[in-house]
Amino acid sequence: MRSESDESKPTQVEPAEKPTQVEPTTKPTQVEPTEPTAHVLKLLGGKWISAAIATAANLGVFDVLIEHPQPASSLAVALRCDTGMLTRLLGILESEGLLESDATGILSVTPLGAPLRSGVLGELAAFAGASFSWDPWSRLPDAIRNGDTAFELHHGTGLFEYLERHPEHAEVYHRAVDAFTRLEAIALASSFDFSATRRIVDVGGGRGTLLVEVLKRHPHISGVLLERAAVADAARAVFEREMLTERAEVRVGNFFESVPDGADVYVIKHVLHNWSDEQAVRILRNCASAVAPQGRVLVVEGIMLPPSYRDGTRLLDLEMMTLLGPGRERTKPEFRRLFAAAGLRLESSQELAGTTRLMSGGRRS
Ligand SMILES: C[S@@+](CC[C@H](N)C(=O)[O-])C[C@H]1O[C@@H](n2cnc3c(N)ncnc32)[C@H](O)[C@@H]1O
Repeated sequence: MRSESDESKPTQVEPAEKPTQVEPTTKPTQVEPTEPTAHVLKLLGGKWISAAIATAANLGVFDVLIEHPQPASSLAVALRCDTGMLTRLLGILESEGLLESDATGILSVTPLGAPLRSGVLGELAAFAGASFSWDPWSRLPDAIRNGDTAFELHHGTGLFEYLERHPEHAEVYHRAVDAFTRLEAIALASSFDFSATRRIVDVGGGRGTLLVEVLKRHPHISGVLLERAAVADAARAVFEREMLTERAEVRVGNFFESVPDGADVYVIKHVLHNWSDEQAVRILRNCASAVAPQGRVLVVEGIMLPPSYRDGTRLLDLEMMTLLGPGRERTKPEFRRLFAAAGLRLESSQELAGTTRLMSGGRRS
């Protein structure tokens, strides 16, 4: 119910009068489409482009059109969508060069749009637009003001606890991580010299995408994947499907407490960026004390460049801040400091795939 004082509020201000009281200013000329305003509008439009791509991936547009190029009307039937609305969405994808249409209106996926199919980056696109990962962005201003985590403000819990409680969203998350990892796994398995490696531990190894690639390419190696209980069964199923159970073992555990002992190589891929410096050092220190004396600790992540560079890793840093708060991308000197604090020496860093780097270190003598 509105109180008397509420009733009185509108009469105290006169918003309707204001526009006529204001003298025309120079403002209209300031919003003319100058180069900077056009540039800013384009940047803001990034939201709509991301949303269009994520929605299309979610609906299955790329998967269906790759197999069966067809007009928007029959695609709408195939995907059980509203024809008019789907046609408008497809128009954006066409104008962004991801789809093309011929003179008869048959739509097909261009080479630029092809990576958006499932099994390449389609799952990453679907994750980007999933409500559980998209909605927390609306809390980012509050999070930055108060040093909170936007994901927690929105969902009331941390990302990994949330995924444990929502297996259907965990599936979306892990599919996206697998999509990222597939490309990097091939690069790691073929570029690192595993000839002297007998046993490898993948620390927080997800559903085993990386370990499968390494073990398949290097039959002399056996591997252990360390994961939370909620992910372990999915990893076991992957090793079974790939017929690797004799060489691949899944251990349920917590990398903040300990990691399996005595392997020659510990891989920590896209794990440290989920955590604060203090937590990252704890994970590295556990690897440093478990690794064989001449063994290697491998960290696979992006290395952040100075802000004057356009840098995908810097964008990923914002994703980490939104979803994981203290989680962050790091510069090379920051990684060097983490390694040193954990009793390791960062010895080399090489490009892996896209912006991802392979950093290798050993125990400090
Ligand atoms: C970003 S994913 C990376 C997965 C994998 N390394 C990859 O790159 O494909 C981070 C992984 O850390 C796992 N994780 C989170 N907290 C953990 C903990 N305390 N102990 C072990 N694993 C954990 C998550 O379940 C998740 O699979």
